[in-house]
Amino acid sequence: MYVCMCHAVTEARVKQEIDEGATTPRQIARGCKAGTDCGSCVRRIQALLGESGARPCPTARLAKRIGLAEQAAPQAA
Ligand code: FES
Repeated sequence: MYVCMCHAVTEARVKQEIDEGATTPRQIARGCKAGTDCGSCVRRIQALLGESGARPCPTARLAKRIGLAEQAAPQAA
């Protein structure tokens, strides 16, 4: 599956960059150019970084800092 359409970069390629040590979207961009054109893929790249434990996106870090990340989803009645 493509993550970055502008540069035809696949999810596997981004994960390869992460496995090789990339911990930020900028480092991913340096390795494979993903995220360097329109930027619409950067959130997906941040999510992949977060999934790998490399570095969660700024929104996830903020949510964790203010305690929103710890809250369970409401139960359906
Ligand atoms: S989709 Fe990645 S820079 Fe445009």
